[in-house]
Amino acid sequence: MWGGRFAAQPADAMQAINASIDVDKRLWREDIEGSQAHADMLAAQGIITQEDNAAIQAGLDQIAAEILEGSFVFSAELEDIHLNIEARLTERIGEAGKRLHTGRSRNDQVATDFKLWTMRAAREAGDGLRALQNALLKQAEPHADWVMPGFTHLQTAQPITLGHHLLAYVSMFERDRVRLIGGALEAAWECPLGAAALAGTSYPIDRERTAAALGFHEPAHNSLDAVGSRDFALAALANLAIAATHLSRLAEEIVLWTSPQFGFARLSDAWSTGSSIMPQKRNPDAAELIRAKAARIGADFSALNAIVQKLPLAYAKDLQEDKALTFNAFDSFALSITAMIGMVETIRFEREAMRAAAARGYSTATDLADWLVRELRVPFREAHEITGKIVRRAEDAGVAELGQLPLDAFQAVDPRITEAARALLTVEKSVESRDSYGGTAPQRVREQVERWKEMFR
Ligand code: ARG
Repeated sequence: MWGGRFAAQPADAMQAINASIDVDKRLWREDIEGSQAHADMLAAQGIITQEDNAAIQAGLDQIAAEILEGSFVFSAELEDIHLNIEARLTERIGEAGKRLHTGRSRNDQVATDFKLWTMRAAREAGDGLRALQNALLKQAEPHADWVMPGFTHLQTAQPITLGHHLLAYVSMFERDRVRLIGGALEAAWECPLGAAALAGTSYPIDRERTAAALGFHEPAHNSLDAVGSRDFALAALANLAIAATHLSRLAEEIVLWTSPQFGFARLSDAWSTGSSIMPQKRNPDAAELIRAKAARIGADFSALNAIVQKLPLAYAKDLQEDKALTFNAFDSFALSITAMIGMVETIRFEREAMRAAAARGYSTATDLADWLVRELRVPFREAHEITGKIVRRAEDAGVAELGQLPLDAFQAVDPRITEAARALLTVEKSVESRDSYGGTAPQRVREQVERWKEMFR
């Protein structure tokens, strides 16, 4: 394709390091779409004839069919998807095929193809997140009033509801989704096609037309930027890495919750694995792999960022490595989402274990302090101090829950404490009392479930 000025063949390893077809064949749809828009425009501008355009359009349609049915032969000698398709086109339609590359370069071609691919992938990742949100919502609703320990520093903090905990992820994934969709919208603004190799072209092309045909808002305004920039992919990977981080945190909770030490939940058989030596094991491998994949998705972002950051304008072949990283990240993400949905849909929560854990660690201590403030108008700092002393007594007495301490032990610290205060110190009363907007109280959780359902309708 470019052999005219060379006398000898490239070294085998040259071809091996240079060829990208194994990776970028996934761009075939976008490549054909871009070429069809380009050829249409060339014909409309009188740069090629209508007959040539018709042959190109039909030839590209046939190539799409060949690729779909698996009969297309991809060749490493032809380097990449662009040259593979162009060569096959010429094989099929002859001379007209050789006119397709007029007024463009692989540099603007690949930037356009890859941008189109990344936009679509980001939207699909957003759809995956929405499906996961729905799965979480379905679990949050029936568990709106199931009590579990809420943690800070992974130390028992205050009782919360399981529904509330699950809805926290629905919020996180909503921001992730919006970020991904927003990135795709931003990428759709400028179309690189027509920037040619780096400087534009001398043919009277119509860049508005190709931009519109491919669903972009307008042509990119600087040809060097158009072929040399990959921030659309960096943004997509960064957004994906953040979403993967949230997936990983949920995965980490599944790992913790399903451990016998927590015993809060049990994964279904379909999402558990056994051990080859320890017959009793039920391992949460999928959750663990989601954690690891999140690390790799973040690394994909870092790798592409490092590739781009040292490149002078405009195109350099380093940029060819953008695709393997991006494809890998989106593939891993899609698989992680599918696995997470499977786990979330079929996980079984253990009400008693969660409730018992919620009551341990004097988790209702804040409720007592709040009672002292509310009923006795004790300043909060002082209430904190009084409650701290009572917690110490409970600890010394070996009592597991604050509410199990006899009233006289409370009154020994502060005689104003009544039975009514002591009666408040159950985990159920505790969560019911936290009914500020966005709080853990079951009625607030149900309110949020309804809000999300309304939003997702
Ligand atoms: N396969 C190349 C890539 O992915 C296409 C662009 C090639 N451009 C060039 N000047 N060699 O980046």
